[in-house]
Amino acid sequence: MKRKLEGKVAVITGAAGVLGTAIAEQLASEGAKVALVDFNQQALDKLVSSFGDSENIMGLVADVSKEQAVQHYVKQVVERWGKIDVFVNNAGIIGKTALLTEQTTADFDAMMNLNVRGVFLGLKYVLPVMIAQQSGSAINTSSVSGLMGSSGNSLYSAAKHAVVGLTKTAALEVAKDSVRVNSIHPAPLASSMMETIEQSINKNDPARVRQTISSRIPLGRYGQAEEVAKLVEFLASDDSSFITGSQYRIDGGMGAR
Ligand SMILES: NC(=O)c1ccc[n+]([C@@H]2O[C@H](COP(=O)([O-])OP(=O)(O)OC[C@H]3O[C@@H](n4cnc5c(N)ncnc54)[C@H](O)[C@@H]3O)[C@@H](O)[C@H]2O)c1
Repeated sequence: MKRKLEGKVAVITGAAGVLGTAIAEQLASEGAKVALVDFNQQALDKLVSSFGDSENIMGLVADVSKEQAVQHYVKQVVERWGKIDVFVNNAGIIGKTALLTEQTTADFDAMMNLNVRGVFLGLKYVLPVMIAQQSGSAINTSSVSGLMGSSGNSLYSAAKHAVVGLTKTAALEVAKDSVRVNSIHPAPLASSMMETIEQSINKNDPARVRQTISSRIPLGRYGQAEEVAKLVEFLASDDSSFITGSQYRIDGGMGAR
């Protein structure tokens, strides 16, 4: 049976993280060639070698908040594989968990620099490749915090809301070129990002924090990165050919409240 992403070229940023890795494995298992972009060289090398040095996997070290680095990784993918069908604009940080009044302008700038500027730059340089092809699917990783407030994470929430604005506007601008742009909005996932939040809320009893956060999720647990990766596979594939400009919650029911 033909795999869903056979013949497609995918680029994933923040690829060496928990979610990026799960997405890379899912897209590769469906036959895509996958370019893995991350600024952590060591973690990236480990991920690339986990694929057994396959010809269909390429690791690219780049800081996605730096314009030249973004231009360079896009160029490298196009030079090697000739196109970009799927772009998973996923790199992001949680930043400092603190009340808004305790966040500094440096905290603000660091957050916007990666979680908004990085997403913008990715779209700015990948979309022209897709427009030239007259096809492609870009998937921006936002969060449930991009659709609602998030006490203690105001800057993260603001940045993830900005991702929605970029997604909707880009979708409108490139629809005529048959290019699709959507965002995904995961609830807390079993991940180092959530461990950081748990520690910063109560370093003596992070398990209790996890319990409290889980109790606010109707399904009663954190999501798994692999569950989100299956949604990304759907948005990357032709099965979602009529979907663009949409916000996909994957949140264990949080949005129903
Ligand atoms: N973990 C969660 O609970 C959760 C929930 C909702 C949304 N998200 C979003 O999912 C995305 C991935 O999160 P994750 O849990 O995999 O995080 P993670 O920390 O495990 O991975 C993030 C990756 O991005 C890389 N990165 C950071 N800054 C970079 C930069 N400037 N240039 C290139 N790479 C950079 C890191 O090296 C890391 O490999 C983020 O956008 C995050 O906001 C995560």
